[in-house]
Amino acid sequence: MKGIVLAGGSGTRLHPITLSTSKQLLPVYDKPMIYYPFAVLMMAEIRDVLIISTPDVLPAIQALFGDGSQFGVSVDYAAQTEPRGIADAFLVGERHVRGRPCALVLGDNIFHGPGFGDLLTTARKELDGCALFGRRTDEPSRFAIAGLDAGGTLTSIEEKPAAPLSDWAVTGLYFYDENVVEIAKSISPSARGELEITDVNRVYLGEGTARMVRLDERFAWLDAGTSESLLEAGRFVRSVHREQGVRIACLEEIALHMGFIDADHCHRLGFDMRNSEYGRYVMDAARRWDDSRQG
Ligand code: TTP
Repeated sequence: MKGIVLAGGSGTRLHPITLSTSKQLLPVYDKPMIYYPFAVLMMAEIRDVLIISTPDVLPAIQALFGDGSQFGVSVDYAAQTEPRGIADAFLVGERHVRGRPCALVLGDNIFHGPGFGDLLTTARKELDGCALFGRRTDEPSRFAIAGLDAGGTLTSIEEKPAAPLSDWAVTGLYFYDENVVEIAKSISPSARGELEITDVNRVYLGEGTARMVRLDERFAWLDAGTSESLLEAGRFVRSVHREQGVRIACLEEIALHMGFIDADHCHRLGFDMRNSEYGRYVMDAARRWDDSRQG
């Protein structure tokens, strides 16, 4: 399966912070925001990733990830010249996807929860059409909301409804089969001139092949698109670190645990950042991994 991180957009809800930089490069506690969605793809065992952003921001993102080989992943880049909508990722990324199933994750979405890697790999294996990932929300009028029948089967998706049919929001993580590019090409722009991902999802729904994986209350889902949610996200990541000793979305540690890199390599990556607590955590992660292997 291929992966796309969509990290363009205009970030207007974060002005003036994003007047001169990209939202996805802002720090969420100890690392750039884009690490969090990138980590989700790695946990889904996706090793072929396209990062889409605006032409002015791509060089900075490229400086962060390079060709991805430090994480045992292949990373490519493509520019979205205008924010033409989330589904536009499949037009921009057409050459990358090339008739293969593809996961799409939004560059400002943060996920954390127990057994997330297993849940993702199961959803990948069972993929037949599209898999959407739902999380309950207190603010249904801000999101695409799923209608579900008594058995929990997805029956409808409504964009920012005034009278929501449920409190299950469609999060910014989507798994699609190999038809997604053709489907994205077949939909028309909405009134605001964007290719809406909800319209793509509705095509799958119409074909009876859209399902929702529900993330229960043990899962955190945060989007860091406003100054308030950005701060909250940072506080959340810090509290998980302080209380559980875990750094969410530590790409070096994930690469190690997924078997993409070995412990020596991981330790070197940490050593290169040894002046930061993050770098020292990466070195420790490599040591812990080695110790656990030696029994
Ligand atoms: P949004 O938060 O909907 O839009 P935005 O990032 O431009 O921010 P604002 O509403 O404050 O102006 O986008 C969600 C994610 O999708 C975010 O990571 C940016 C990305 N995105 C694109 O890369 N291209 C697009 O055309 C759109 C609509 C979003």
